[in-house]
Amino acid sequence: MSSDVSCLSRNLLLVATFLYSALLAATVNAEDGYDLWLRYQPLEVEARDNYRPQLRQLVIPGREDSRTLQAIGDELLRGVGGLIGRAPEMASRIRGDGFVLVATPGSSADVRAAQLPMDALGEEGYLIRAISLRGHTGTLVTANSERGLLYGSFHLLRLLQTRDALVGLDISSSPRIGLRLLNHWDNLDRSVERGYAGQSIWDWWNLPDVLDPRYTDYARANAAIGINGTVLNNVNASADSLTPRYLDKAAALAEVFRPYGIRMYLSARFSAPVEIGGLETADPQSPAVQRWWQHKADEIYQRIPDFGGFLVKANSEGQPGPQDYGRSHAEGANLLARALAPHGGVVMWRAFVYQQDNPEDRAKQAYSDFVPLDGQFDDNVIVQVKNGPIDFQPREPFHPMFGAMPKTPLMMEFQITKEYLGFASHLAYLGPMYEEVLRADTFAEGPGSTVTKVIDGSLHGQRLTGIAGVANIGRDRDWSGSTFNQANWYVFGRMAWNPDLAAATVARDWLKITFSDNPELLAGALDIMLASRQAVVDYMTPLGLAHLMATGHHYGPGPWVSDLARPEWNPAYYHRADRNGIGFDRTAEGSNAVAQYATPVVEKFASRSRVGEDLLLWFHHLPWDHRMNSGRDLWEELVYRYDRGLAEVQEMRTQWQALAPLVDRERFDKTARLLAVQEREAKWWRDASIAYFQSVSARPLPDGVAPPARDLAYYRALEFPWTPGH
Ligand code: GCU
Repeated sequence: MSSDVSCLSRNLLLVATFLYSALLAATVNAEDGYDLWLRYQPLEVEARDNYRPQLRQLVIPGREDSRTLQAIGDELLRGVGGLIGRAPEMASRIRGDGFVLVATPGSSADVRAAQLPMDALGEEGYLIRAISLRGHTGTLVTANSERGLLYGSFHLLRLLQTRDALVGLDISSSPRIGLRLLNHWDNLDRSVERGYAGQSIWDWWNLPDVLDPRYTDYARANAAIGINGTVLNNVNASADSLTPRYLDKAAALAEVFRPYGIRMYLSARFSAPVEIGGLETADPQSPAVQRWWQHKADEIYQRIPDFGGFLVKANSEGQPGPQDYGRSHAEGANLLARALAPHGGVVMWRAFVYQQDNPEDRAKQAYSDFVPLDGQFDDNVIVQVKNGPIDFQPREPFHPMFGAMPKTPLMMEFQITKEYLGFASHLAYLGPMYEEVLRADTFAEGPGSTVTKVIDGSLHGQRLTGIAGVANIGRDRDWSGSTFNQANWYVFGRMAWNPDLAAATVARDWLKITFSDNPELLAGALDIMLASRQAVVDYMTPLGLAHLMATGHHYGPGPWVSDLARPEWNPAYYHRADRNGIGFDRTAEGSNAVAQYATPVVEKFASRSRVGEDLLLWFHHLPWDHRMNSGRDLWEELVYRYDRGLAEVQEMRTQWQALAPLVDRERFDKTARLLAVQEREAKWWRDASIAYFQSVSARPLPDGVAPPARDLAYYRALEFPWTPGH
């Protein structure tokens, strides 16, 4: 009896111990997404064993005197320590095999003696090499600057995260694009325009006194993917951001970002001289206005010596601008550029413009406004152009300004936050979209004149180059509202560094870093990611349709909306569907927007057979019985695409379910729940759109197609007054 009892209590003790360790493991490994790609969870045993002999000592000469080198050291200790379970020893010199030396030719005689090909690396590039020094084998990370060392060190950590071999390493990498920026559309009250991941991470109220550790983690995450600048505030800017009080706050953030190579920029409101400067005008020709901006620039640089410059939205959607005074965009941009020039700052002047009193096709207006100004912008102005001519739709053709302004540097503006692709709740990996735009051929200087070559400056010999992504970052614990949304921030950074990277390659890296390198997990999740953007296109805006979202907040379908004050606010303006057909005729018979592209592109886009079905209705108005490649007529094809989009989301859900055993509970569940939302909303989009277009086309549903669940009146009556980000 007594032995039974002791056996029982032993068993109980064992169970309790087991439960306790399980609980502990779960807590230690809690996957709430906060760590992004800086998630240094232990690798598989085999990988750890392989790496350990190669990562014994860390040598970073000059570390004591530099915040950047300290940041590198901390990151490598933490990263290597986490990934292989043993941090390298920080050493002052190479003592044996398995060293990692992080040094510039200036900081290490060994690196100088090695005479490596450093010239091509420029300011930010780096080399990572397997190397033998002083009779010992190890790994060298070298660069011309500390920033280069930083990027190289993050790349070394990435090699471990993706389980790449360190043996025989010989990597040389430098960024193709100079300004690689996030644009935050964050307001001073912490609301975020088009933000779906909670409030702004910038706690303006408590800055500069309180420095949330999150600011450092933000800088680390960005540096890890090569982002080197950030615009803190919304393009619909408040002039208050430029007051001394707010500049002090911004300066505190700049201080946190500096060691990580991240420069700070601010959106500037064009009318600031009036609003906070007490002047009567903001006219670029006024000497008082010019002086005001010069003083403002001096004031900023006193606080932030490496301030990057201004981003400006002018004469667009009600924002003030030079045209209010009869001046051009170039005159407006140069006003600010001249104030910044003595300090080395730049102006990023946005080309997202369309005017309420301009009856011209909205897709044409930016080009019409800007292209005639080619050659009139100062050297430190770069014009920031959205990827497509309308506004971040699920699919647009590339913007016709790319390639059309040979004397003006143009930078790309992508949207990372998914204003028109299902907010934070839908899974849509944007890599394929970025890739599609970057690889598009403008033919500006003959075949091969890709958008990438325009923005990396190689096509027209531009020195100033840039790319910006409208951030999807907020205070949510996982920063972006879902695990998979993090991939969009990640791919933006990676492609900004190297626009030739394939979306699939980056997705694989991200999956390995974020989950594991289990082949089944990789295959399944990659499939989901790569199919996801086209799925959204299909269930929202198939066949080149655009801007069918409901008014203002852009949540859900609203193809029926046709009564708003300005024509281009109405979805009906974009689809032009009636009893006879659908689509926007942008050929010579219509708005002739095609003429803004180079001749070979015009020939393609203007041809119904050559344009490709993905952009068909963007450029053509066609009868419902137009024959499609599938043999279906246009009406049947439209319905088919809506069904296909919904079916793809259903497939994504099934695929995700199959991965349950391979993903931690927390992230698995949240993703599964969001996919359920996505399926529900894809069905809503499909049903509402079919109900509406059928009411217009008066055509029967093809055989076997399920009718919409509710009638059109039901969908039209839905209202969503509290949507986020609006
Ligand atoms: C879109 C978006 C706005 C934003 C604007 C811009 O229209 O809906 O919220 O201000 O783009 O890029 O300026």
